[in-house]
Amino acid sequence: MNSILEKIREQFPALSQNSHGRQLIYLDNAATAQKPQTVLDLISKMNGKINANVHRAMYELSDIATEIYEEARCGVAQFIGASRKENIIFTSGCTAAINLVAQSYGAEFLKKGDIIVIGADNHHSNIVPWQLIAQRVGAEIKVLPVTKGGEYDLKELESIITEGVKIVAISHISNILGVINPLDAIISHSHSVGAVVLVDGAQGIVHQDINLSSLDADFYTFSTHKLYGGTGHGVLYGKTELLEKMPPFMGGGDMVDTVTYKKTTYAPLPLKFEAGTPNFVSAASLSPAIKFVEAIRGRGSSWLSGSNKNLQQAVEAEQKKIIEYMFHALDNEVGDVEIYGRPGEDLENESFVDKKIALFSFNIKGTNSSDVAQILDQLGIAVRSGLMCAEPLLNSLGVTGAVRASFGPYNTIDEARQLIEGLKRAKKMLY
Ligand code: ALA
Repeated sequence: MNSILEKIREQFPALSQNSHGRQLIYLDNAATAQKPQTVLDLISKMNGKINANVHRAMYELSDIATEIYEEARCGVAQFIGASRKENIIFTSGCTAAINLVAQSYGAEFLKKGDIIVIGADNHHSNIVPWQLIAQRVGAEIKVLPVTKGGEYDLKELESIITEGVKIVAISHISNILGVINPLDAIISHSHSVGAVVLVDGAQGIVHQDINLSSLDADFYTFSTHKLYGGTGHGVLYGKTELLEKMPPFMGGGDMVDTVTYKKTTYAPLPLKFEAGTPNFVSAASLSPAIKFVEAIRGRGSSWLSGSNKNLQQAVEAEQKKIIEYMFHALDNEVGDVEIYGRPGEDLENESFVDKKIALFSFNIKGTNSSDVAQILDQLGIAVRSGLMCAEPLLNSLGVTGAVRASFGPYNTIDEARQLIEGLKRAKKMLY
């Protein structure tokens, strides 16, 4: 194994354990990523020592906790290119962030007959909140299809995103297809018809640099735990002018200015949307988590000893090898495999490696995805299977489930090879 990858892996204690008596091969990073020691240390320090509620008290410990919490918010703003930290709302997860926009922006600005467009590859969390608000206000839902290769079909933009569309809710990268979507074209076309755009970045931010000053999405959401941070926490980015106009989603402590029995005035952004005690531990974990992400993208202060450029090169080279190998081995070594999200199929001039992340959803024809996942589990290989919170997409692909192997920056080509050996074995057992 590449010695830099070995050093990175050493920083993730979860990776060195066994499962069913074998070295764990963790390939369910799209569901949740493992946490580096720096994140675990920060979580332990926050729980053990700096455990004081934020924004509330006049004593030193609360001030320290608040400072760490707000530093994390500034770090996120910088990381995603938001112009102000007030654009960053901390929520209990990506799902909560999308629901916030649907229930607040949707309830305030949608009316009967308006249209909401959702991506065909959306996770349930970017479908159901829109159905709930559509039912409430009498809005209609339309679907932006994906091509055979697995990205949004830009040929359909003009016919689907028309006058009357008020919200477009899409995925940066689908949790099933793993294909990087063409966001710019969709955002600029949506704006031309007066629609606002929400991008679910739960998978996207993990694999792609984001700069919201140039991307021009109105809302962008993601989860902290998929980005190597703590669980039960997420981020909503929103443009100032939209967040200012939106009513609070939940009422409670910390989101108020003054309260009487009759009436309440609200705190300014971002606290207007942060009712109740926030998950300040997981919020704080974003700082070391982002430092790790910056390091594997070749930026920031040295994360392991030496230059972060070396980390970037090692991780990028391994991911590229994994992507190329997986396509080849699923087709030629395992065989009889249907892969969902294969950008090469409709892209003549672009390299599929540049369009795809190391996330593979597939079926061995004639087998049940859960049976395959169970056999892999016995070999110490953790993958996800079933509907994976994307039932409409899987239905449109004509299947009731799939196996998904999603690789993280600490996974290796050797682990991919062991997965393929496991799949060959599963096929033999199930055929
Ligand atoms: N959304 C997560 C997944 O795709 C849970 O597995």
